[in-house]
Amino acid sequence: MARPTLVTGGTGALGRAVVHRLQARGHAVRLFSRSDPPAEERTSKPATEWVVGDLATSPSIHLAVQGVDTIVHCATSPGGGDVAITRRLADAASRAENPPHLIYISIVGIETVPLSYYRTKLACEGVVAGSGLPWTIQRATQFHDLVARMTDVQHRWPLVVAPAGIDCQPIDVRDVARRLVEWVEKGPAGRTPEIGGPEVRSLVELARSTLDSEGRDTRVVGMPMPGAIASALRRGEHLTPDHAEGEIGFDQFLAERAVHHEHSYSTG
Ligand SMILES: NC(=O)c1ccc[n+]([C@@H]2O[C@H](COP(=O)([O-])OP(=O)(O)OC[C@H]3O[C@@H](n4cnc5c(N)ncnc54)[C@H](OP(=O)(O)O)[C@@H]3O)[C@@H](O)[C@H]2O)c1
Repeated sequence: MARPTLVTGGTGALGRAVVHRLQARGHAVRLFSRSDPPAEERTSKPATEWVVGDLATSPSIHLAVQGVDTIVHCATSPGGGDVAITRRLADAASRAENPPHLIYISIVGIETVPLSYYRTKLACEGVVAGSGLPWTIQRATQFHDLVARMTDVQHRWPLVVAPAGIDCQPIDVRDVARRLVEWVEKGPAGRTPEIGGPEVRSLVELARSTLDSEGRDTRVVGMPMPGAIASALRRGEHLTPDHAEGEIGFDQFLAERAVHHEHSYSTG
């Protein structure tokens, strides 16, 4: 019987797609979350083995890493603490009877875009690469849902503001999950080629598409942004046009999301 793959952050946007892809490929999955499993998983034969705990503090981390071949580390808390949880996870995994392959998802451009979250990602990469475990680091561009959220959070405003002169190459979490599961199957690869979404488009255009998919004719205003972060983004440091290997475009994501919303409303 093949040993399971542990997915941290398996309840998150990417983690859910990774769990789904692993199961579709016939892998056993163990998921780590701070929350109890939903009702449909609380059966005598759940599809996913569920370990409840906080990566920052819970002793259950040691239980979670026992007997797994691979860990796909997708957990993140943008508010802080990612370096500590990554180090704690790597330490626990190093002490497991058979130290597993640790796969880390990171972001394109983290050396040159001076966001504090990106500095944290760089430090986490260092923890993974220096862990002594077999490891893989996969960098990806921004996920579709993050880009759509930048417009959605402004839903009460009479207009939508988007940074002017900045492009984005959003990728679908299913494409990233597909790549991560390839590393689960192929084994440790160290630093791997980046993966980006299929198209590079301006943030103003992506905001317009998001509004159109919601049937809203709100005006989009491109706002010039000052500062070092905006300069790096204007230079396209977060893009990887030579690795546009994602297959699902932003418009397809929006169309599927619109159908899903319609279905949720009609079924209550
Ligand atoms: N979003 C993007 O555009 C993007 C682009 C490239 C790479 N990435 C990377 O992809 C990864 C996943 O991002 P995402 O957007 O899918 O994240 P997300 O939806 O915000 O999910 C975060 C997950 O982390 C878990 N988590 C947070 N703190 C935890 C803790 N202390 N202990 C245990 N679990 C904890 C949460 O699980 P529970 O709440 O269930 O505990 C949740 O499942 C991150 O490493 C991110 O940097 C993101």
